[in-house]
Amino acid sequence: MVKVITYGTFDLFHEGHYRLLQRAKALGDYLIVGVTTENYDKSRGKIGIIDPILTRIENVKKTGFADEIIIEEASGQKFNDIQKYDIDIFTVGSDWTGTFDYLNDYCKVVYLERTKNISSTMLRAQRQRIQRVGIIGTGRIANRFVPEAKLVSGISTQGVYNPHIHSSRQFAEKWEIEVYEDIEQFFDAIDIVYVASPHETHYGYVKCALQHGKHVLCEKPIVLEKKQAEELFGYAKEQGLVLFEGIKTSYCPGFQKLLGIACSGMIGSIRNVEACFTKLEDLDSRELTDTKYGGSFIELGSYIMLPILKLLGTNYENIVFDSIKDEKGLDLFTRVTLRYKNGLGTATCGLGVKSDGRLLISGTKGYIVVNAPWWKTTYFEVHYEQVEKVDKYSETFLGDGLRYEISDLLALINQTEKNDFKLTRGESVALAGIMEQFIKENRS
Ligand code: CTP
Repeated sequence: MVKVITYGTFDLFHEGHYRLLQRAKALGDYLIVGVTTENYDKSRGKIGIIDPILTRIENVKKTGFADEIIIEEASGQKFNDIQKYDIDIFTVGSDWTGTFDYLNDYCKVVYLERTKNISSTMLRAQRQRIQRVGIIGTGRIANRFVPEAKLVSGISTQGVYNPHIHSSRQFAEKWEIEVYEDIEQFFDAIDIVYVASPHETHYGYVKCALQHGKHVLCEKPIVLEKKQAEELFGYAKEQGLVLFEGIKTSYCPGFQKLLGIACSGMIGSIRNVEACFTKLEDLDSRELTDTKYGGSFIELGSYIMLPILKLLGTNYENIVFDSIKDEKGLDLFTRVTLRYKNGLGTATCGLGVKSDGRLLISGTKGYIVVNAPWWKTTYFEVHYEQVEKVDKYSETFLGDGLRYEISDLLALINQTEKNDFKLTRGESVALAGIMEQFIKENRS
C-alpha cells in the first residue's frame, strides 16, 4: 500500500484545494491530510484565517479523498509524521517547490502544479470589503503601524490627519498615503480611525470618530478617566461600532498561551502577579518633560497592569501607588500594589531607571517566569517545588507585533470574531480608572 501525506490550512475551501487533494490521493492508495491549527498558522505569519479548524476539517472530509485527517500544530511535525505514519510520498502544491526537499531522505517528495488564479488569500480579500484606516498622529507608534497593517489582508492605510500639518505631510510622503488637513474630509475617506496622538487628546478624537460612525483602534491608555472610558465604550456599543484599545501584548500569541497555562491549574491558585517594565529615555523626551501626561506610569502602566487584571481580575479591594519623582514632579519609578481577596498584584515601571523587566506569576503549586521583553511574550518557564522540574514553552512574535491586534480588530469589525475576550471593555475601563486614580494622587 502506497501511503501519501499532504498538509494545508484549507481556509474557505476552494477548487485549488479540491484538485490538490484529488491528485494527492491518485498518487497512492491511502491519503493522510494534515490540517493546520490557527495558532500554528499565526506563528508562521498566516493571520486572518476565517474558517475555524472544525469547518476546515469538515471540508477536507467532504471531498472523500482523505482516508485520515490529522492536525498540524508545529513546524517540524512533518518530519515526525512521515516516520510515524510510514509515509511513501509527501506532496504539496508547486508554490512550495524546493521548501520540502529535505524530506527526500525519508520519502518521495512530489510538488503538484498549483491551480491558477485561486487562493484563500484572494477569497478572503473578495469577501471582505477592504477597510480603509486613517491615522491620527505621526509619532513613533504610528510609524510602526503602517508596515504592520500592510501584512494584514483586508485593511489598507488611506491617510493621516495631524493638526501639525508639517509632520503629517512628512509622514504621508514617507508612507505614500494621503494627507488630510480637514478632519471632516479625513473622516469621509475612511472606515477605521487609528488614534496614535498624545494621551490627553485620545478622548476628544475617539469621541469625534465614533460620532462620525467610524470604528476606532486607540493606543493605550485609551483615556485617563473611568467615566470617559465608560461613556466611549457605551456609545460605541449603542452605535454598533468597534472601539478597541491597542495594548499589543494582549493580542500576541505567546501572551495568550501564557494566560492559558497560568489559568489551567498547573501552578495552582494564583497568589501573586509581579510585572516590571523599565526603559531608558532621553531627558528631553516627551515622556520626561510633559509634566501633566508624562512620567513612567502613564507611559508604561498599561503594560504592567495588564497581566494583573487578566489573571486576578478587575475587582481588587485596594490599590496603592508609590513613586520616586524628579524635580518637576514626574514619576521616574512607580510601584503599584493591588490587593485582592486571595492574591496580590505588584507592578513596577521606570523611565530612566533600568531593572529586570520580568513577569512572575506565583501559585500554590508552582510559578511561571517570563523574562524581558515579556510584553512581547515568546518564551516562558513553569517551575515547581522540585527545582529540576521545569516546563518550557515558546511562541513566535513577529515584527513589531501590531499585526496581531490589527487582525483581531478586523475580525471584530467583520464579525468573524464575536467577542473581545483578549482585552475586554471591562478591563479597559478598569485601566482608565487606575490611570485616573494615579493622576489624582500623583499630580496634585
Ligand atoms: N493549492 C493549490 N492550488 C491553489 C491553492 C492551493 O494546489 N490555487 C494547494 C497548496 O499548494 C497546498 C494546499 O493546496 O498544497 C493547501 O494550501 P493552503 O495554503 O491551505 O491554500 P492557499 O489557497 O494557498 O492559502 P493562502 O492563500 O492562505 O496561502
